[in-house]
Amino acid sequence: MKKIATLLTLLLLLPALAAGCGSSAIKEESTDETVEEDLITVGFSQLGAESDWRNTNTISMQEAFTRDNGFNLVYKNGQQKQANQITAVRMFIQQGVDYIVLAPATETGWESVLTEARDAGIPVILVDRRVDVADKTLFSCWVGSDFELESKKMTEWLRKLTEVRNISPEELHIVNIQGTMGSTAQIGRTRGLANAARENGWDLITEVSGDFTENKGREVMAAMLKGYDNINVVYCENDNMAIGAIDALEAAGKRVGPNIKNGEVMVVSFDGVNEKSLEYCREGKISCIAECNPLHGPRVRALIEALDKGETPETFNYVDEKIFSSLNTVKSVTVDGIEYSVEEP
Ligand code: AHR
Repeated sequence: MKKIATLLTLLLLLPALAAGCGSSAIKEESTDETVEEDLITVGFSQLGAESDWRNTNTISMQEAFTRDNGFNLVYKNGQQKQANQITAVRMFIQQGVDYIVLAPATETGWESVLTEARDAGIPVILVDRRVDVADKTLFSCWVGSDFELESKKMTEWLRKLTEVRNISPEELHIVNIQGTMGSTAQIGRTRGLANAARENGWDLITEVSGDFTENKGREVMAAMLKGYDNINVVYCENDNMAIGAIDALEAAGKRVGPNIKNGEVMVVSFDGVNEKSLEYCREGKISCIAECNPLHGPRVRALIEALDKGETPETFNYVDEKIFSSLNTVKSVTVDGIEYSVEEP
């Protein structure tokens, strides 16, 4: 299965994009002709560098696919544009890599290029987000998070907290700062909140995308505050947007915290990767974080090693994730019959 190939490999070290919780550096790429012997060549199309989660994920992949581990990694950053990712996958096909790993920005629009990869006999492994294709044989397997489950844990935590604090459902006025529209993370987290709001009778005022970035989280929150004066819960679909939203709330003179009966605005979010957001969670500025685990490098490597031995891994591989809050009011949440303890951040 493993090919010994002469490749144009891509490796140029640019200054590090610091990872949120690590000291490693993300390595960007350039061209250099080298002969790779006895290495498995993996082309990795990462979608971008929009968040601390993403940077930590990139480093995890780069640390897993080293020459010492038997791999030649060809890494391409898609800069948040699907067109760039499609170009990268086509380049990997031309180069004749052994495996393609794709972290897709959004779910749709992948049929053609994945068909080209399959026609070239190159297995595709999806990581983090998924693709929406009718033909499920266009990829070998996927590893990532259950984004809707993350949201169900979060909304159950909110339901229990408000019940214990005697806050009635109609008193909750929620805004959602969404992630990149059409991404699996956004779809799952938005659906989870919409379902919970409907089931519990919460007022879901509005939903606007902040594209998973801190700056857009700040901008969207500032605009929402101009449009609505009764917001008391801000559901941010990642921590970077929560950090931006908290800036905007405080700049507008709002107090951020869990005591909405006393006029505070509660912020909840997803990831648990960024040290600043964990610190905010310890302080109570972020009331709850549903973990989204980015450390997929070793998981993807294990999948490729299995495929390389001729094995057939499970198609969908979910990672276990936690939920964090420094409020000790809610000790655990039960979702779909499974109890998750709420941990200290
Ligand atoms: O797809 C995972 C999400 O993408 C993370 O929650 C977010 O921070 C990232 O940008």
